[in-house]
Amino acid sequence: MTDWVKSGWRNKPRVQMPDYTDQAALNAVEVQLGKYPPLVFAGEARKLKRALGKAGTGEAFLLQGGDCAESFNEFSADSIRDTFKVMLQMAMVLTYGAKVPVIKVGRMAGQFAKPRSADTETLNGVELPSYRGDIVNGFDFTPEARIPDPARMLQAYTQAAASLNLVRAFSHGGYADVHQVHAWTLGFTDQDEAEKYRDLANRISDTLDFMQAAGVNQDTAHTLQSVDFYTSHEALLLEYEEALCRIDSTTGLPVAGSGHMLWIGDRTRQPDGAHVEFLRGVQNPIGLKCGPTITTGHLKVLMNKLNPKNEPGRLTLIARFGAGQVGDHLPRLIKAVEEEGANVVWSCDPMHGNTIKSSSGYKTRPFDSVLREVHEFFAVHNAEGTVPGGVHFEMTGKDVTECTGGVRAVTDEDLSDRYHTACDPRLNASQALELAFLVAEELGNRRTKSVQAAAV
Ligand code: PEP
Ligand code: CO
Repeated sequence: MTDWVKSGWRNKPRVQMPDYTDQAALNAVEVQLGKYPPLVFAGEARKLKRALGKAGTGEAFLLQGGDCAESFNEFSADSIRDTFKVMLQMAMVLTYGAKVPVIKVGRMAGQFAKPRSADTETLNGVELPSYRGDIVNGFDFTPEARIPDPARMLQAYTQAAASLNLVRAFSHGGYADVHQVHAWTLGFTDQDEAEKYRDLANRISDTLDFMQAAGVNQDTAHTLQSVDFYTSHEALLLEYEEALCRIDSTTGLPVAGSGHMLWIGDRTRQPDGAHVEFLRGVQNPIGLKCGPTITTGHLKVLMNKLNPKNEPGRLTLIARFGAGQVGDHLPRLIKAVEEEGANVVWSCDPMHGNTIKSSSGYKTRPFDSVLREVHEFFAVHNAEGTVPGGVHFEMTGKDVTECTGGVRAVTDEDLSDRYHTACDPRLNASQALELAFLVAEELGNRRTKSVQAAAV
């Protein structure tokens, strides 16, 4: 791309980014980060793009999930391991239901910067700048904590590197071996879900035993012993993204080194804005959040800007409308995509359109609304004959009480028990697994439908 430079975003209007007061400190951090190794490598991003290309045609399915915002305080090996475990369990359930490979992408190792609906927050009559994620400022409600501090980018980089190191070890060191399918269960998972999962794990173990007895697992042994696990985050803090952008030595093209897949948020997708400008130039697979306010005109401009060569797997459209609203928006966007003949992966984020304030004052998401949005997403795709290619969740392996409902029925009053998120409410492990079973069922129905169609 000859009309793009990695600093080009600086000449475009920017929103949702901090105004650093100490320019010298900011420059020093950028120089430092610029010398650090990239966290991910171009070949990995290319591999993910190829896999996503298959999700676009229904030959694979994308499972993307993790924290709303990673935090410096909650960082621990256990929390990474538990989220990883739930993702593996969900992926098993989905693979079994969809009978296609599941592409596992964590909101992890870089998901630190947050867009906010207001620039300030008021508490007991005191107004302070909003918290914008640990990579920008502090969560504590004090004037000092809320000053954007560029040094936080270095801590975020270090935490991302350590997280990725652990995830790579889990993925390839034996932990993710499918023979461990029973070991990924978390102690506190709801009984019904645990039972359903155990049942599925038993069937998988039986199949593996059979394959071994029949001597058919020799060639596939390697594929079953490890997984590809990718990282992703919202590319919001462009100073950080630019500093980690590198030229891929194989293709000579720029690649974001901060994560495998980056997405543009619903609040930063202005076609002439800074975020679109930066992301159009990097080769990674990218996501675009599509909320109710996106116009079909903008979507067409964005698809052309972000994926001018119409590469399969390059662009994932992450629909997030809210339960009850999918039918109003998804069909018009699908029509725009079809009119352009664009290759996209359609993914469903049933979280961000369903955030409400509970009667107890906590920000929450009713689990029923989450399920309903997923169901509506599949129903629209089935009606349109298009491919539902993936799902995008905010979830954690921890036993939190942040979203209401689920088999183990978290109530409004329960929210205060274990409400740990630094930003939006996440599904806990039981709710995440329950959702995976629902998605698997939807995927199974879809298959039945196409099988029936083929038989007619
Ligand atoms: C997010 O994914 O955490 C987020 C802020 O999403 P959106 O841009 O869709 O609101
Ligand atoms: Co969120």
